[in-house]
Amino acid sequence: MLILGIETSCDETSAAVLDGDGAVLSNLIASQIARHQPFGGVVPEIASREHLEQLTPVITQSVAAAGVALGDLNAVAVTSGPGLIGALLVGVAGAQGLAYGLNIPLYPVNHLEGHIFSPFLRRDGSAIDRPARFLTLVISGGHSSIYDIRHDSELTMLNRTRDDAVGEVFDKVAKFIGMPYPGGPEIERTARGGDPLRFRFALPQFKEEPLSFSFSGLKSSAIRLARELKLADGSSDDRADFCASFQQAIGNQILDRLETVWLTVSGQTDAPTELALAGGVAANETLRKRIEEWSVNRSITSRLPERAFCTDNAAMIAFAGLLRAQRGFSGDPRRVSARSRMAVGA
Ligand code: KG4
Ligand code: ZN
Repeated sequence: MLILGIETSCDETSAAVLDGDGAVLSNLIASQIARHQPFGGVVPEIASREHLEQLTPVITQSVAAAGVALGDLNAVAVTSGPGLIGALLVGVAGAQGLAYGLNIPLYPVNHLEGHIFSPFLRRDGSAIDRPARFLTLVISGGHSSIYDIRHDSELTMLNRTRDDAVGEVFDKVAKFIGMPYPGGPEIERTARGGDPLRFRFALPQFKEEPLSFSFSGLKSSAIRLARELKLADGSSDDRADFCASFQQAIGNQILDRLETVWLTVSGQTDAPTELALAGGVAANETLRKRIEEWSVNRSITSRLPERAFCTDNAAMIAFAGLLRAQRGFSGDPRRVSARSRMAVGA
């Protein structure tokens, strides 16, 4: 079994080839970050046009890098949503034509489902076996949710953010202090050596929704503080402490919600045995360490994704497609359509 994965939901054109055990034979990513950087964020029209130019070469190179030919493929998986509709359409139409022409099935994949299973991928070797039940915390530029997964097939969203996503807040605060897009890695770099306890930010709590994330208050407080400290000038000595404290506040809220989830599920007879971390923000070293520590203290295994599988990539899409194929989905290429909004498990 060889499955080609295609991802074009945002600003990365990616194609990957996996075998039937989930081993990643190739995973190529053409990033558009440099094209969007002058605008401080992703411009949808530019993204679509870039995908159109990159898709065929990226597929061709990925298939060659896997050491196979197009004719050897047994299935295709493509991100069908959620994401930028124009960007998704390019990947979906390309995948449909390819699968139809090769007379092989096409599996539509929810981008978030790709992230959810990505911590089980390895750069070398077959995918790691999943336990009967696990939790995945997905933190990316567009999403912040904890999911409860049973038997690879029942996916339940336990919480979400009431406003901004984690990555989005990293990007916006970074932009305010003059850092280039994407801001997450920049803030992490600047935070090194900074004092995470120097500035305190309030932890939002909602009595009626104790699980919900909310990052817009933190964003406003951080921007207000950055203005007071004149961080936008770029020369301030407070930059490292500010970034470390801001990163700490994000981690505090994430761990607070994780703990609340854990208190409800840990007593159940079929309690989850692993906590997986996914999405672009999962590349953050400080956060990874804190999640790992939290898991060790609760005797739960943590699954931290390899860096290559944190940000958007087609390997995770191919893997989620593989799991769909194993669940007996039809895979008729003509029935796949792109959707900008899409619920997990639908
Ligand atoms: O998963 P992803 O590539 O795209 C979406 O589906 O959104 O996530 C991109 C997000 C950006 O907001 C970026 O700033 C953030 O992930 N990010 C990080 C780090 N690396 C990427 N945030 C914090 N620390 C990092 N090291
Ligand atoms: Zn993503």
